[in-house]
Amino acid sequence: MLHSLLHYIEKSPDCFHAVHTLSRMLEESGYVRLPEGSSELEAGGKYYTVRSGSSLIAFRIPKGQPRGFLLTGSHSDSPCFRVRDHAELAGAYTRLSVERYGGMLNASWLDRPLSVAGRVLVKQGSRIETRLVDLEKDSVLIPNVAIHLNREANNGAKYDPARDLQPLFGGSDAKGAFRRELADKAGCAPEDILATDLFVYNNQPGTVWGPEGEFVSAPRLDDLACVFACAQGFLMATETEEIPVLAVFDNEEIGSGTKQGAESMFLPDTLQAICQARGLDLRRLLTQSMMLSCDNGHGVHPNHPELADANEAPVLNGGVVIKHSPRYATDGLSSAVFSELCRRAGVPVQHYSNRPDQAGGSTLGNIANTKVGVSTVDIGMAQLAMHSCFETAGSRDVEYFIRAVTAFYGAGLRMEDGAVLLDD
Ligand code: CO
Repeated sequence: MLHSLLHYIEKSPDCFHAVHTLSRMLEESGYVRLPEGSSELEAGGKYYTVRSGSSLIAFRIPKGQPRGFLLTGSHSDSPCFRVRDHAELAGAYTRLSVERYGGMLNASWLDRPLSVAGRVLVKQGSRIETRLVDLEKDSVLIPNVAIHLNREANNGAKYDPARDLQPLFGGSDAKGAFRRELADKAGCAPEDILATDLFVYNNQPGTVWGPEGEFVSAPRLDDLACVFACAQGFLMATETEEIPVLAVFDNEEIGSGTKQGAESMFLPDTLQAICQARGLDLRRLLTQSMMLSCDNGHGVHPNHPELADANEAPVLNGGVVIKHSPRYATDGLSSAVFSELCRRAGVPVQHYSNRPDQAGGSTLGNIANTKVGVSTVDIGMAQLAMHSCFETAGSRDVEYFIRAVTAFYGAGLRMEDGAVLLDD
């Protein structure tokens, strides 16, 4: 399973590819792609829909009368550099003009070969088409300044994104080469590329390491490890009376407030369309629904245990992490239900809280809840170096997470006022 995860990450250099690769996976399992809002849904049918190429919702229609939805939410985007449409910066060398996307650890991106992927908009007669492109090969690099030219380099580095983080692409004579490479990949003429949505990404393959293979390191583990694990659980779960829903949102790293983000109407619109097609009452179903908001959490750092909370500090390979914060969607009820589902599935659970003097991060669960009010628990895998371009997690946690999500999608839950009844 770890190698399937690494394969998924390799085939998902950016949010568009992450959704495209997931779409292929769903189609191989018999899922049919629908335009948004489609009302042609059959009992027993397996469907998915995509918004803007970078967010996806998949679901199955049960044969009987569904009671509610069992949802997972995760995110397709990761911190990276966005490449401008007018990308080439001329000078002594040719550099690419980029800006930061999300809260990245700057230093991790320097002195390593990087590549470029995303989508280009191509003019074909009177049609404007989207084409996914991935240069795949080592294409750019952001060089450090030598220690001899910056004696302060080891005393805490500060990076000016406009000056220090623009990647080197080629020599001064490389004018036009970037667009030619893109056109080559897109199968069009350079002048037919009208616009681009491109990202610089780390193309280093992931690796499983440690004396027992206990660690997995790869780019974009946050949050593609959760996307992959949620998809596996969604596909493997036994059928219940509920409607299983797999939601993957773009733009979590910049606050989710876009037309395809967790704050958008994509999820409520899709659930409403399902209800309309099947003659169901959305509001009633939502009272009988639950969501796992899946985004990785911080494991105790081997060199900095003092940064973790005194009591709720997960370790790598210690099990699925339930994340608690006033800013998260987790509450006592959702935490209790999820813990009990994990206990039944033989999956260890750990708890994470920020140190009381730290604000911590945010995620998509509470944001999605403002549009779709269902009982939600924030969970994730414990990881190190979050938002580095090469992150590390626990190998066993990937298995645990898939088992937990599979158990969740296979669960029968009956919500009462302040109580939940779990089917045996
Ligand atoms: Co995340």
